[in-house]
Amino acid sequence: MAEQTNIVDEAVERYGGSVGFLIPILQDIQTEHGYLPEPQLRKLARRLAIPVSQIYSVATFYKSLSLKPRGRHLISVCTGTVCHLKGAGRVAEAICEELDIPVGATTGDMRFTFQTVNCLGACALAPVIVVDGQYYAKVKPGEAAKILSSYE
Ligand code: FES
Repeated sequence: MAEQTNIVDEAVERYGGSVGFLIPILQDIQTEHGYLPEPQLRKLARRLAIPVSQIYSVATFYKSLSLKPRGRHLISVCTGTVCHLKGAGRVAEAICEELDIPVGATTGDMRFTFQTVNCLGACALAPVIVVDGQYYAKVKPGEAAKILSSYE
């Protein structure tokens, strides 16, 4: 039975069917679904004629890619050296307490996914958190709840 055209086909066509564009193809699939569903990755492997293990190795290497459904909002706390020294650990703890989830988890209502990341290249703003691409600088633990309250 022929497979229906979907985001995998569209993304593969968009990038000329080149394995060299695997990351942007995966990003397009993730934008469509909010994460990378296994059936889509298997289809992508067939379309690109590469082992699905190659796709998984890329998908698990980059923190921006997710194999699990994510919340509507992605919170990233930088735990690079400078942010760590400026208290990022306490900010992360405050977020975990506020959301009642551990690092790497998603809230039960799918509102937030919380992760830690390496240096974001904005060390002068340490400690830094990023919510949906919006940077918050010099965040104190007590400010976390207020920041998160602005995201539905
Ligand atoms: S260590 Fe956090 S932005 Fe560099």
